[in-house]
Amino acid sequence: MTRIGLISDIHVDLNTLGGEEVITGFLAAESRRRGLDILLVAGDLAGDYAVSLKTVDRLSAESGARVLFIPGNHDIWNEKHPGLKAWDTYNALLAHPANLARGPVFIEDGWTIVGDLGWYDFAFGDPSFTIEDFERMSYMDRTWQDKIMSIWDRGTLEVHRMFMDRLGQALDAAAGGRILLATHVVQVSEFTVQNPGAMWKYFNAFLGSPEYGELAIKRGVALSVCGHVHHRCRVSKGGTKFVCPCLGYRTEWPARDGRPADAAREIARTLAVYELGENEAIPVPDESASAAS
Ligand SMILES: [Fe+2]
Ligand SMILES: [Fe+2]
Repeated sequence: MTRIGLISDIHVDLNTLGGEEVITGFLAAESRRRGLDILLVAGDLAGDYAVSLKTVDRLSAESGARVLFIPGNHDIWNEKHPGLKAWDTYNALLAHPANLARGPVFIEDGWTIVGDLGWYDFAFGDPSFTIEDFERMSYMDRTWQDKIMSIWDRGTLEVHRMFMDRLGQALDAAAGGRILLATHVVQVSEFTVQNPGAMWKYFNAFLGSPEYGELAIKRGVALSVCGHVHHRCRVSKGGTKFVCPCLGYRTEWPARDGRPADAAREIARTLAVYELGENEAIPVPDESASAAS
């Protein structure tokens, strides 16, 4: 059976230690420790596509696993490359053979892995706001940074529709076997910010779309992974197992047992490992006491 590890939002350029990039080495070591055949990173590797690609190459060299990834919204940001549009950075990432957005990846045991960035359609936002309110991407003195750093050639809803179409086509090609679907954006309402205050009633709009989850269920996807919201959670619905394994920002990691956050420990806690079985994806718990402590 193929053993796959799922993780998202590793943000290697932000989760540094004393200015040093440490996440890639820790994640590669954890992949080896868990004996992964495949490591799938569901976006937001870094806020610079060139760093994201370097991270994929290093993980491929050091993890002992086949590495697959999809871009997140941070990976396509142009902050470090002024003048580039969203398509420029998206296509630069698409040139990498490990990018799932190039097309379905067929693996042994009858499984197919399908994935792409995805976008948002505002449906997770509070209905008291209008489409025009959401199009501004700005509320309570805060601006959603995709408004500034992900400049597409079409409106937000059209970007979402395009990713739905692309994923639908990739799923057509995968029909017949068991499927693992990956998007960066959130697919089910259970993973949005729950009981939101005034701010998240608005900003939940930019987390994803329930249409991705509906697509997964409709197409009989066995295991569906997303990131973006910096939660770590799982839910099963409609016959699909949904998992959101986000490492998130160092500043979001909780102190545990009176000890400050530790990158290697957080990676061990975040990585969601599954065996791709004959009929379903079977979670593989981490038996190591050190990782659980
Ligand atoms: Fe993120
Ligand atoms: Fe994100």
